[in-house]
Amino acid sequence: MKCRICASQAVVALKSHHTAFCPDCYKKFFLRQTERGIESQKLFTRSDRILVALSGGKDSLSLMLALSLLGYRATGLHIDLGIPASSAAARGVTERFCARHGFELIVLETAARGLPIPLVKSRLRRPICSVCGKIKRHFFNETALGEGFDVLATGHNLDDETARLFSNVLRWDASYLADQGPLLEEKAGFARKVKPLWRLTEFETACYAFLTGIEHHYAPCPYSPGATFSTLKGIVRRVEAAMPGRKLDFYQKFLRNGRPRFVAAQPDKALLLKPCPRCGHPTSSGRECGICRIRMAIERNEA
Ligand code: AMP
Ligand code: FES
Ligand code: ZN
Repeated sequence: MKCRICASQAVVALKSHHTAFCPDCYKKFFLRQTERGIESQKLFTRSDRILVALSGGKDSLSLMLALSLLGYRATGLHIDLGIPASSAAARGVTERFCARHGFELIVLETAARGLPIPLVKSRLRRPICSVCGKIKRHFFNETALGEGFDVLATGHNLDDETARLFSNVLRWDASYLADQGPLLEEKAGFARKVKPLWRLTEFETACYAFLTGIEHHYAPCPYSPGATFSTLKGIVRRVEAAMPGRKLDFYQKFLRNGRPRFVAAQPDKALLLKPCPRCGHPTSSGRECGICRIRMAIERNEA
């Protein structure tokens, strides 16, 4: 198999694009697709300051490298969750990666803010994954707004996005469908959020990480096997294997034809927001925000 661009030995074949690339041409392809994802959805510009949430996994580290090579102003943010079997390794990988490339990195420890995940897990009866996700998003948002960044970027790829879309469609969850996409605009108390890798699959990101020599943290979280989501990912992957290109098409057509309708049918959520009586953060429930409720559950247990 030959590279479609330069005719040297190809190492990556992409059925959905009917093409194959050598290592150098593949890396350029990845950067072009990332840039296309950013420009077509107007995610940010080269004058914006971007805070990139770095978990230590291949997606977010690939995103950081790609943004820097494309000339964007990116700073990393790693949230150390304090989970004994995995957090130190994820943090170490992220710190080494940023040091190697000379990237600025902010590290925030949830334990230093009273929320180490093992403690939260032991005090709450709800499944830890959704609580942990809420805590991470809270600190992403707080850091982006507090440190004056224009936008917060995560490493979600096309497989993550189509599995989520499929899940939202299965439940016809109009509110989640209105909020799904590579861009969530800034609104009262919430930073602008973007997913620049939305055009790239998990396989394509893994190839980029491998070819650029990114060391990454791939051990699954000891608390969350992520079973439901991987079932949905598997289904979407089987559709893609039978019909190459359908995954990107499904997502792009949702952005073009589906999402605007769900957005138009939504009430203006900003009008419904009220400040949390404990911390002042905007919340739709009219009572304490999600993070304060987690803190209160911990305090109750300590009383
Ligand atoms: P996940 O929900 O684990 O698939 O992660 C999705 C995205 O969230 C990653 O690509 C990162 O951008 C971000 N992320 C997840 N965990 C962390 C973390 N501990 N610190 C910083 N960013 C994270
Ligand atoms: Fe949050 Fe596992 S990463 S519970
Ligand atoms: Zn609050």
